[in-house]
Amino acid sequence: MKDPIRFNSKIGLIAATVGSAVGLGNVWRFPAEVQANGGAAFLLIYLGCVIMLGIPVMLAEFSLGRAGRTDAVGVFQKLSPGKKWWLIGLLGIIASFTILSFYMVVSGWTLEYLVESLTGNLYRPDSGSGEVNFGEKMVGYVQSDSRPLLYTYIMIVLNVGILLGGVRKGIERISNWLMPTLFVLLIVFCCVSLSMPDAGAGLKYFFKPDFTKIDAGVIVSALGQAFFSLSLGLGVLITYASYFPKETRLVRTGVTVAVLDLFVAILMGIIIFPVVTSFGITDGESLRGGTLVFVTMPEVFSHMSGTQLWSTLFFLSITVAALTSTLSLGQVSIAFLQDRFKMSRGKAVALVLLPLIPLSTACSLSQGSWNSFKLAGYNLFDLLDNVATNYMLPIGAILLCIYAGWVFPKKTLTRELTNDGELKGTIAPAIRWCIKYAAPPLIFIILISKML
Ligand code: PHE
Repeated sequence: MKDPIRFNSKIGLIAATVGSAVGLGNVWRFPAEVQANGGAAFLLIYLGCVIMLGIPVMLAEFSLGRAGRTDAVGVFQKLSPGKKWWLIGLLGIIASFTILSFYMVVSGWTLEYLVESLTGNLYRPDSGSGEVNFGEKMVGYVQSDSRPLLYTYIMIVLNVGILLGGVRKGIERISNWLMPTLFVLLIVFCCVSLSMPDAGAGLKYFFKPDFTKIDAGVIVSALGQAFFSLSLGLGVLITYASYFPKETRLVRTGVTVAVLDLFVAILMGIIIFPVVTSFGITDGESLRGGTLVFVTMPEVFSHMSGTQLWSTLFFLSITVAALTSTLSLGQVSIAFLQDRFKMSRGKAVALVLLPLIPLSTACSLSQGSWNSFKLAGYNLFDLLDNVATNYMLPIGAILLCIYAGWVFPKKTLTRELTNDGELKGTIAPAIRWCIKYAAPPLIFIILISKML
């Protein structure tokens, strides 16, 4: 029999898992949400969501994955044979594939902006006026059909190349390189940003607490953001945890991943807001996620010396963050095909990533020439984003907690959380309590309020 797959090292395991968590969610959703929803007040609520719900759900996934040691469907079949619980895993796989189809398109945009920064094209005016209008550039680019498709395909090919290498030689090895690079880049950026003339005002703008903004809707957004950002509810972390060695301390790993994910998200805000406010751009429209990254930041870079360098490094960081997240989204389905159907890795990679070509093409075109085809008022891109992020992800997370809290034997959960009783203390019962009693109703509230 082949050796079971395990991550090679502790660092590699953390790099791969943080790689999944840190992604576009940290870059273009988090800073904009914090600023719009009450600054430090939102941050406090977000922190509460991560501690009370995010980390417990993550640990539920870790425990299931390591106890079952197989893909997201197989885990449930192995732990509860003959029951239908495996449908939770299947829902997760469908949701992760759905997210992958539009996430790949946005990753393609980041790569395009990286290349355009490197060549300097992004900063060349399109017409003879001499001024570059970054808003028009972005619209022109997204609606041009062919170019976003080209870059989406390049991202798919990159994913195929890395995923063919497998868990250790592909995902783990590349994460070992990319994640430290990302952290170094972000720290450099942070220093640049904090040395801006008006940095203090930018930080104030980002963090200034405004408790009057906090209402039920804001709490729901914080919770949704926490789940998306930590890659929860889709079986991604079940799959990754099936590669954790038995010595891995789950609680410590979960806390490390959550802290690093939060650190990058906050760092992104510290990077973006001082530079943005230093150039006096503070209207609401310029600060929305996609606009912030693809329009406002290039605008800011164009006023800085070393425009091309900063722009290239910025888009390099985002592309890296996006790439390691797409790898994890792909791996869920690949592990499923390999483990359930005994497929070779090559076949499984092809079967997961080839269908993405038509799907991502449709998503990309739905922002361009197919924009008039709408379902329930959404184009395909927004529809998939909405359905997967707002519905499939919380439903998956609730079912997962119900399973881990009420069906999965308490003894096994405790054994996983404490490494066979090696780790003592009250943390395991507290986490179990959150998984069993707090998480299902609270996540249910998010789900319902999104439907209203
Ligand atoms: N966590 C990633 C981000 O913040 C997205 C993601 C969601 C990745 C779900 C895997 C699973 O961008």
